[in-house]
Amino acid sequence: MSRLVTILNGPNLNLLGKRQPEIYGRDTLADIENACRTLGKQLKLDISFQQSNREYELIDWIHEAREKAAAIVINPAAFTHTSVALLDALNTFEGWVIEVHISQVHKREAFRHHSYVSHRADAVMAGFGVHGYELALRHAAHLIGLKKK
Ligand code: DQA
Repeated sequence: MSRLVTILNGPNLNLLGKRQPEIYGRDTLADIENACRTLGKQLKLDISFQQSNREYELIDWIHEAREKAAAIVINPAAFTHTSVALLDALNTFEGWVIEVHISQVHKREAFRHHSYVSHRADAVMAGFGVHGYELALRHAAHLIGLKKK
């Protein structure tokens, strides 16, 4: 059985560390990737970690995950609030889906309160800072262990 977790990051997350640090903190995406890979080893998960500013690329990676991943951890960034296409792609994926937001989106502007991706996500993390990725990975390991999907 697959223990691959595909971690996907949406637009502007390549600028983490420089982008609005008062909201998103000083850690870079590379820091998050390192933390996920280290934890992935401990949890005996295979990790794939990708970021794109292009909606179609994220959709293509979700399609690839259909063939091989047990879970997707996704921070769709601004596409969270706009993309029916990402939701449709995630609806074709049969494994676990965990949605992650670094910031507590419900405390922010009203347009960030709705998530298309949440219509599909099995779990949603928001406001845990970059630590949310590690929490999501731990939960993914737990869900994969349940072997229900
Ligand atoms: C975000 C929240 C989104 O509203 C925003 O567009 C992002 C990042 C977060 O991680 O807090 O780019 O997904």
